[in-house]
Amino acid sequence: MRSHKFGAGALALLLASAGSGVADGQSGKPRFGKPISEAEIAAWNIDVRTPDGKNLPSGKGSVAEGKVLFAAQCAACHGDDAKGGSMYGSMVGGIGSFTTNTRVLTPGSMYPYAPILFDYVRRTMPMTAPQSLTNDQVYALAAYLLNLNGLVPDTAVMDAESLTKVMMPNRNGFIPDDRPDTSARRCMTNC
Ligand code: HEC
Repeated sequence: MRSHKFGAGALALLLASAGSGVADGQSGKPRFGKPISEAEIAAWNIDVRTPDGKNLPSGKGSVAEGKVLFAAQCAACHGDDAKGGSMYGSMVGGIGSFTTNTRVLTPGSMYPYAPILFDYVRRTMPMTAPQSLTNDQVYALAAYLLNLNGLVPDTAVMDAESLTKVMMPNRNGFIPDDRPDTSARRCMTNC
């Protein structure tokens, strides 16, 4: 009897879903979901436009604060002072190595714009708990990593304005892909 009851229940469910209209009777198109509004997107959107720092949030953090945070939340995978650890290689140095055959990829050597560091860390790190850091903490960690790479002084405090102003050494090292089929164009302002 048990199996019979189960069968009847399953059939009732099937009929219910057919009745609720998976497809729109008129157009034949599925009727799942609804168009998303700009306001709904804004609540989720943490994109930063990295060349000019547009959409960087308010907040600030110092090299000294970043150093403490890094030791507590990042060094387990990235090593002391970001010199390389159990999960990832060095995030320090390598500046200028792109013109040699032994390129060292670090935020300091590679990122064209410093706000990339903020965007990346806020979005993804620490890897075990992404988006758990406050904006002040992310600014502090960006300040610390830039300082380790010799790009800002020990006393630096990073916020939306100062971070955007940091001149990354490889800023002009990227070559636009101008193959006709990609139609890539360099865009630096108001893109
Ligand atoms: C559980 C391990 C783990 C922890 C903890 C962790 N990371 Fe990472 N991190 C990684 C791995 C793995 C990658 C490489 C990811 C990839 O290449 O896709 C990475 C990549 C990065 C990068 C990009 C490096 C580059 O060369 O572009 C940055 C910056 C970074 N982490 C910063 C941090 C900061 C800051 C913290 C602390 C808040 C942190 N990470 C904590 C594992 C970790």
